[in-house]
Amino acid sequence: MEEGELEKYWDFVALEAKDFEKMLRVEKWRKVARNWLADYADKRAYDFVLKVIDDVIKLDKSAKILDVGCGPGKWSILFAKKFSSTTAIDVSPKMILLARENAKKHNLGNVEFHVMNVSKLNFPDETYDLVNCITVLQHVLNDDDWRSAVHEMVRVTKTGGHILLFETAPNLAIIRRTRHLAIRTMRKYIDEFRKAGAHFAYWRAVDLSLPVTFFGLKTYSASFNKKVYYFMSKSILFSAGFLSFLSLVASVLAELIDYRLAETPLSFLSAGRILLFKKGKA
Ligand SMILES: C[S@@+](CC[C@H](N)C(=O)[O-])C[C@H]1O[C@@H](n2cnc3c(N)ncnc32)[C@H](O)[C@@H]1O
Repeated sequence: MEEGELEKYWDFVALEAKDFEKMLRVEKWRKVARNWLADYADKRAYDFVLKVIDDVIKLDKSAKILDVGCGPGKWSILFAKKFSSTTAIDVSPKMILLARENAKKHNLGNVEFHVMNVSKLNFPDETYDLVNCITVLQHVLNDDDWRSAVHEMVRVTKTGGHILLFETAPNLAIIRRTRHLAIRTMRKYIDEFRKAGAHFAYWRAVDLSLPVTFFGLKTYSASFNKKVYYFMSKSILFSAGFLSFLSLVASVLAELIDYRLAETPLSFLSAGRILLFKKGKA
């Protein structure tokens, strides 16, 4: 099939990569798919977390970081490159093994990994400038363990230091409690952190603008269930733009509606949020 014939496929929403590649017979698309995933992760990291660290928290290079629920170490490695000392914990020994292997590939001597539960941190009080906790507390299903986790994270943070969370927002589209997920309201987080001695410093809803950016590219790739798909459509551009606008509105309104976000029709437009707490009085 000639490249020009692609035009008649514009109405396809998604095409599995192997069919797409067969159609075009061009190797470069496979590269695009892999790069897209790497790019996507980097952009998310920058937009939704590192930007908050750079613009809002403004940490020194000498800062001590604790990465809670580090998983395979994506954030820990990023922090180790930016700051002088990073400690990372995860309750899963497998994750810690993976994280150590990943860190080794980057030749980093300033990051250490421990198997540990966030509800019982084996570190002294007032140790870290930043405690980073990305999509972890939502997996702590038991409310008592969740409360202990909040208090433990505040305890090990220096006064004036920050705790940064990324959590799935309450959402009509997601069942609030699944076997793996307990989605709690912003109010619940704010109250518990206040009891633990930290005040609510900053938050931002994560809108849909980033995925929509990729619609803007007209043809883009994404991976679901280990398969890579290419999306192409001209008509989708308008609806994506409209969705993006709605999403922006929802993110602005989220401050007013977030406590009951799950009950509002706009809930699906704000999939997650960053919550930032500062230890000490406001
Ligand atoms: C969705 S992953 C996020 C990993 C990493 N933060 C990231 O953003 O790539 C959640 C991680 O939290 C860890 N986790 C779950 N419950 C935990 C607990 N009670 N204490 C410490 N880690 C926990 C899991 O083992 C898993 O690695």
